[in-house]
Amino acid sequence: MNGPLLELTGVTRQFGGLKAVSDVTLSVPQGEVIGLIGPNGAGKTTLVNVITGVHPASAGTIRFAGEDITRLKPWQAARRGIARTFQIVQPFPEMTVLENVAAAAMFAGGVRYGRDAEHEAREHLRFVGLGDYADRDASALTLAMRKRLEFAKGLAMHPKLLLLDEVNAGLNATEVDEALALIRAIAGRGVTILIIEHLMKVVLSLCSRIVVLHHGELIAQGEPQAIIKDPRVIQAYLGRRYAGTEASNGG
Ligand SMILES: Nc1ncnc2c1ncn2[C@@H]1O[C@H](COP(=O)(O)OP(=O)(O)OP(=O)(O)O)[C@@H](O)[C@H]1O
Ligand SMILES: [Mg+2]
Repeated sequence: MNGPLLELTGVTRQFGGLKAVSDVTLSVPQGEVIGLIGPNGAGKTTLVNVITGVHPASAGTIRFAGEDITRLKPWQAARRGIARTFQIVQPFPEMTVLENVAAAAMFAGGVRYGRDAEHEAREHLRFVGLGDYADRDASALTLAMRKRLEFAKGLAMHPKLLLLDEVNAGLNATEVDEALALIRAIAGRGVTILIIEHLMKVVLSLCSRIVVLHHGELIAQGEPQAIIKDPRVIQAYLGRRYAGTEASNGG
């Protein structure tokens, strides 16, 4: 495939009079980990919802792997290899952990539930460190484990692109480090990742490029070291905390 994996051109999403996402143009190259940052209400989750077809774009076009996917429904986007995690994790509580992963696999198509699907779901659960919890009810999981389950569900969709929405929110420092290692391992499998994240330590250690949203508009994009020194980004979001600091000190 030539060109970027994901390409947004002039994408806007309005809710009544509010432009939650306003004229956003960006491209995500195959194999990269891109950070999406910005203050609360900047439009980050809405952008993910637009890419995945949850909220259709009000204007603009979205291309994925060379195909125009602007008007696709969520299940159609999933079948093309776009998976996402949810900011508010919402497993089916009465289903087992394994069944939650299998449900995601079925949503993305390609598998009927059976021995092979179950075997594969167990592999994903082992990969994310939930191998021992496969047969427990999802309601028994801690927050950190529910976040891991989100990763396993995403992987079960065989994603080319994985959209991560605040997978580290509410986790302690050790759990964040574990999640970081997991995200690196997923990227190491060749999955392209767009990660929404407020923890700059995570963004700076994972991302080759950062995109900044503010009031729905893309106000900056570029290499991490340039972004943390960008006056518009400092004013809109970072404050003075990161200006001129080494990446390893951020956070
Ligand atoms: N379904 C909706 N209906 C109406 N307004 C919405 C809807 N979803 C989001 N918004 C509004 O769009 C704007 C962007 O919200 P969004 O959730 O995308 O921000 P965010 O950058 O993800 O913020 P946070 O960091 O708090 O998660 C906000 O003003 C929000 O209130
Ligand atoms: Mg959000």
